[in-house]
Amino acid sequence: MLVLFLTDELGKIPAIRAMLEPRYHVVPQVLGVGDTQIRSSGVLMVDADLREMVRVEQIRLVLRELSCMTEKLFVVPNHVRSMIAQAYALGATAVVSRPKEIILKLAEIEVAEKAAQTDFAITSREIADGAAAFASMFSDARGGRPINISDAERATSEIIDSIAQNGLSAWLDDVRRYHEGTYQHCLLVTGVAVGFALDIGFSSLDVRRLGMAATLHDIGKARIPLSVLDKPGRLDPAEEEIMRRHPVIGHELLKDISGVSAEILDGVRHHHEYLDGSGYPDALRAPEISDLVRLLTISDIFAALIESRPYSPAISRQDAYRILCGMDGKLERSLVKAFRNVALVE
Ligand SMILES: [Fe+2]
Ligand SMILES: [Fe+2]
Repeated sequence: MLVLFLTDELGKIPAIRAMLEPRYHVVPQVLGVGDTQIRSSGVLMVDADLREMVRVEQIRLVLRELSCMTEKLFVVPNHVRSMIAQAYALGATAVVSRPKEIILKLAEIEVAEKAAQTDFAITSREIADGAAAFASMFSDARGGRPINISDAERATSEIIDSIAQNGLSAWLDDVRRYHEGTYQHCLLVTGVAVGFALDIGFSSLDVRRLGMAATLHDIGKARIPLSVLDKPGRLDPAEEEIMRRHPVIGHELLKDISGVSAEILDGVRHHHEYLDGSGYPDALRAPEISDLVRLLTISDIFAALIESRPYSPAISRQDAYRILCGMDGKLERSLVKAFRNVALVE
């Protein structure tokens, strides 16, 4: 998605680029310098001192040229009241203050735009909220800030509500249509894990516990360089080695945060372990692998197989289930059998 960044200071551009690229395509423009770059899609983001009338006039002129852009995000540091009022008077569709709010808002707009471009999606609101919560968590983790556990709780609750109401298939289809990369993966894994827990009759407390573990399972990927994380195609051995650090990183990021239970930490650290001891990072064997981790691992592998990727065709749910069945010895056979319902029922 394109973000046209309109500012009164050249010096604000590098920070906004560092925050938003490469996820978004940032086009900067300094007020009063050069012609307006006419755009009809994407988001306009304005960061200027709205207490200065000369700035307000310059913005008004630019906005006249950009009347086709429907989303107008104004950055108002510290929620200065007079600037907020001025922003809305200029036609702001949202006013944000902190970097985290910017990321959340852009993620929401992106999902809404994608949903508007294609069919009406019954689950689009839940996906937007879930994706926004993931964006917030990953941004905190990447920026070295503590992860806000209420983001994970919010995403998990939205996903549970959506799947309880509309079923797993609608969730899987819509997430694959509207989201890419790591967020798609996290939304899918949590959906599959919640669908699995509901199908086998877990209590609501246990559904939530597994859902939270799934929501947070790959948070360590926030610290993996994007060149590795988003690499199209296969990773080379050195990159694979870097990628394999994410369970330990995730565990480190969460272990001192209150509200993250031992079961969730176990899920985050051990979702790549196999019953035969061939997994990582601790090469655990069956007796050391909890039920929650076994369920999470099955959900994670299945979700990874059915992901839609720009560089390779998606695998059908039937084929993905067949692959799980072929992993005998690594995954618990009785759970894979129970998972059939989740994997194949429409
Ligand atoms: Fe993982
Ligand atoms: Fe994963």
